[in-house]
Amino acid sequence: MDNKFIPVCEPLLVGNERKYVLDALETGWISSAGKYIPAFEQAFAEYCGVKHGIAVCNGTVALHLALVALDIKAGDEVIVPNFTMIASAFAVCYTGAIPVFVDAEPETWNIDPSKIEEKITEKTKAIMPVHIYGHPCDMDPIVKIASKYNLKIIEDAAEVHGAEYYGRKCGSLGDIAAFSFFANKIATTGEGGMVVTNDDELADKCRYYKNLCFPLSGNRNYQHNDIGFNYRMSNLHAAVGLAQVEKLDYYVESRRSINTLYRKYLRDIPGITLQPEKKWAKNVYWMNGIIVDKFKFGLGKDELIIKLKEKGIDTRSFFLGMNKQLSLSKCGCDCRGAYPVSEYLSNNGLYLPSGSGLKEETIQYISEVLFEINRQSRKSINI
Ligand SMILES: Cc1ncc(COP(=O)(O)O)c(C=O)c1O
Repeated sequence: MDNKFIPVCEPLLVGNERKYVLDALETGWISSAGKYIPAFEQAFAEYCGVKHGIAVCNGTVALHLALVALDIKAGDEVIVPNFTMIASAFAVCYTGAIPVFVDAEPETWNIDPSKIEEKITEKTKAIMPVHIYGHPCDMDPIVKIASKYNLKIIEDAAEVHGAEYYGRKCGSLGDIAAFSFFANKIATTGEGGMVVTNDDELADKCRYYKNLCFPLSGNRNYQHNDIGFNYRMSNLHAAVGLAQVEKLDYYVESRRSINTLYRKYLRDIPGITLQPEKKWAKNVYWMNGIIVDKFKFGLGKDELIIKLKEKGIDTRSFFLGMNKQLSLSKCGCDCRGAYPVSEYLSNNGLYLPSGSGLKEETIQYISEVLFEINRQSRKSINI
């Protein structure tokens, strides 16, 4: 395996992708009209257990569109986790509203529901729980807080296709949700996203705003009554998406099996913790994140990333907290205060190769390399 490069996440396209894309090409339906768009929207909405899916060109704009549909605007505040991917916070900034950060909980790495209430002000309009790396947020307390303060819930479900909270799919747990179909996601369209919701009015608003505010029905007279966006997805992308949804259960099971194998092979290495699966959750393990305890493992996260790279194993560091982002402080976010859990996660977390097509022998190889690094590091510092 020594000369091999193992990417952190490769897409798996083993269903009808080619057939559907060729069909779209051969019939000339390559833009944002064509049968694969409604078929993909319907199939994915059904998969999530919701009424509506609105396909868009990436997950970031899906979040923005969801916020626009909820009428989030300048002067408002939206609660977001401090430990997330930057797109969650940027989408809030695009509306002119201010993201307000809440620290993560140490076990699941998701937003800590017990720290939300202290961040609510009279300007707060919504909460954006982000289901991190495949594990759903603990939604019941979040829903309780939202109803107490009359706040909307936008799930950032970019990383959790198929994950469940008490048997209900992520994407169906708030007012509206956004998914990403970037190439590393459990279902991909290359670039792509979708807003899902049970609310007819919000769905119509998303369809309206995603298409430059062309009227949803009646004649096109080129009269535009609001400022809209071109967030449309192409039929070519939707063709890939439909094929992916057809096999989504298989991809989810692959991700879960990969995690089981990592757990088996990493079991005896000291100082490594994987993301858990709470008893109320189905974790889809979008990524196999590990927390490295430098004092038990013998080496810190940054050095480990370098050593793994030398062995051809690609990894990624965990997100950097939102409170550390210059871009967000420039847009008026309050970046003061301590976020000790997200700081700990950022400083000590990385994720291992996790693509749905990863073979057992590759996971075994990665684990053996980790073992060897651990053995040598412990020896060199006498632990
Ligand atoms: C939590 C989260 N939100 C939003 C996004 C943005 O999705 P996209 O890259 O499709 O714009 C991502 C992408 O990785 C993500 O991880």
